[in-house]
Amino acid sequence: MVAITNMVDYAVEDGVAVLTLNNPPVNALSHGVRAGLLQGVEKAQQDQAVSAILIYCEGRTFIAGADITEFSSGMKEPGLHQVLTAIDNSAKPTVAAIHGTALGGGLETALSCNYRVAVSTVKCGLPEVNLGILPGAGGTQRLPRVVGVEKALQMITTGVPIGAVEAHQLGLVDALVEGDLRAEALAFAKQKAAEGGEHPRVRDREDKLQPARDNPEIFAMARQMIAKRARGFLAPEYNIRCVEAAVNQPFDEGLNTEGKLFMELMSGPQARSQQHFFFAEREASKIAGIGKEVAERPINKVGVIGAGLMGGGIAMNMANVGIPVTIVETKQEALDRGLGVIRKNYENTAKKGRLSPEQVEQRCGLIQGSLALDDLADCDLIIEAVFENMAVKKQIFTNLDKLAKPGAILASNTSALDLNDIAAVTSRPEDVIGLHFFSPANVMKLLEVVRGDKTADDVIKTGMSFAKRIKKVAVLVGVCFGFVGNRILFSRQYQSDKLALEGANYARVDKLLYDFGFPMGPFQMADLAGLDIGWLKETSKPDLFVKDRLCEMGELGQKTGSGYYDYDEKRRPVPRQQTTDFYLETSKALGVEQRDISDEEILDRLLLSMINEGAKVLDEGIAQRASDIDVVYVYGYGWPVYRGGPMHYANSLGLDKVLEKIRHYHQLTGDDFWAPSPYLVKLAEQGESFK
Ligand code: CAA
Repeated sequence: MVAITNMVDYAVEDGVAVLTLNNPPVNALSHGVRAGLLQGVEKAQQDQAVSAILIYCEGRTFIAGADITEFSSGMKEPGLHQVLTAIDNSAKPTVAAIHGTALGGGLETALSCNYRVAVSTVKCGLPEVNLGILPGAGGTQRLPRVVGVEKALQMITTGVPIGAVEAHQLGLVDALVEGDLRAEALAFAKQKAAEGGEHPRVRDREDKLQPARDNPEIFAMARQMIAKRARGFLAPEYNIRCVEAAVNQPFDEGLNTEGKLFMELMSGPQARSQQHFFFAEREASKIAGIGKEVAERPINKVGVIGAGLMGGGIAMNMANVGIPVTIVETKQEALDRGLGVIRKNYENTAKKGRLSPEQVEQRCGLIQGSLALDDLADCDLIIEAVFENMAVKKQIFTNLDKLAKPGAILASNTSALDLNDIAAVTSRPEDVIGLHFFSPANVMKLLEVVRGDKTADDVIKTGMSFAKRIKKVAVLVGVCFGFVGNRILFSRQYQSDKLALEGANYARVDKLLYDFGFPMGPFQMADLAGLDIGWLKETSKPDLFVKDRLCEMGELGQKTGSGYYDYDEKRRPVPRQQTTDFYLETSKALGVEQRDISDEEILDRLLLSMINEGAKVLDEGIAQRASDIDVVYVYGYGWPVYRGGPMHYANSLGLDKVLEKIRHYHQLTGDDFWAPSPYLVKLAEQGESFK
């Protein structure tokens, strides 16, 4: 065996040149891999002892794509194109031996080979769309030639990989192997070399393109199918255009089109934002100061207190991954209602074909109801999910302290209250943690893991990895009112209310945020959540707050058919004159002069209020890193990922510009809300960005 580069070895076995890639953890196509592959393929052409070439990967996976870390620093020669052209032009048959995942440039490499052999657990896909780009090394031209245009459009626009069986049926994989992949792929390569003749080149295939040539409507349909999901994103449309080029242009012209569109996307802000987010999401799982030596606590049985919307959704997360869960309520009626909602949710999923009837029964079977808190005595993790009332939560934790087994983790799902106060009523504050799920808890990916002053390291570590186990993206946050997500949201809500008082129509405020890329604006969001969240009759101030006035009228948002908006039978919002009138009346009563407010000011005030609060959250150590705030906002509040999250967005604007604007609004409104975060001032003055 000869090392061609530090990442690629060359060996000849049974007349087959085996190029072995070793670039942990995912064999990304870093410079050393590209250079090694190119030299290896060239060497094999000259090597008289070689009649076929096999590309094989060490470690847990075949090539999982280009090395994304190289995107921002620029790629050294040879580029992937050059490498894949050399593979494609090889005079000797080429075989890719695939295990794990063949993604992006990895699948493009495999598609440049004459043959693909895989184990039955592989996943193959082109996920570039999720990074704001497109497969720029021939993937958009080759994949449709192998799997057909319709399937390629689906794979390329969603980025979702397909499994081995489907890949085999579609002809993307030529042979599935059960045993030793390396040995069997080697035998396959040897056999193909022995058979001789022409070896198939994907670039030459036309048969699977013909149906789309006969039916060009296919592209309009693809655009229609993704319209809602792809709103605001550039990459899905660019990917479709490339597949159109595959159908309508000769192969080499199609490659040129792909290359041109790739460069356009790659140099744009959306790609930068989405690539930032790829790493932000992975970074979020890392806990500063808690090392490998800290052992996690085992979680085999979970208890949930409260069978309401949150409690039920939380319990479903456990059942979905096979963890038994006991859900406790105080009244039989509430318990029955909660369990009924869970069953209905599963049955609705089954109706859409995403669960079998057996799976529905299996998951429901994992969720036991109970009226006795004592039934949680043997749970490893107990999650309190009752309404936001400190006295009630303290009572529950006092009881849990008495009954939970030693070492059990006691978690609160509070979305804003002081976790340290809750922990203080127990004799074991080190076992208390916050697990703040987002509604609907069975759907939303975000989990804020709240670390109290006394929470033990192993409890934090267990909370973070448990989140991964139940398929959530966890972000570690500290204690303050609203933690990271809601605290920043309160700032935006404050501004949206102010803007409406100052004369910006509330529906226009919503529309601007929607056009920015959010699924909805603050008023629609409040209507969806229910205006009565956190509202109490005793402290209500209808003269000062339109929201309180609506609550007193019993108009609580979508659930009552009207709130800021009226809702039609399909729950579509219809703006109400009454809401505008209420704002006018409140402005008058408060002596606020209404004026014309530009779109720019509205958007600035909504977004900068979040950024300024985010800077304070960072300064206080409530979030570990700026990118964690981005993860909270993209997964918890619908910040468009193609804008990277609030802190990345601030960086892209330039912190000096951000500060200048914040100071402008401070002066304009005279409201100390706009006092800039000292941390932001420091970074801006030093010409730095949020890290
Ligand atoms: N480049 C650089 N680093 C990568 C990488 C890539 N393509 N893919 C994963 N990594 C890194 C991750 O950042 C992570 O690093 P840390 O441990 O330091 O955080 C490490 O590899 C492990 O990754 P995961 O935690 O995600 O591991 P996993 O087992 O959960 O998932 C995976 C593995 C399915 C391969 C997943 O990492 C993944 O989806 N990777 C990205 C795949 C992708 O998008 N490929 C296309 C790249 S673009 C391209 O190829 C363009 C082109 O046309 C040339």
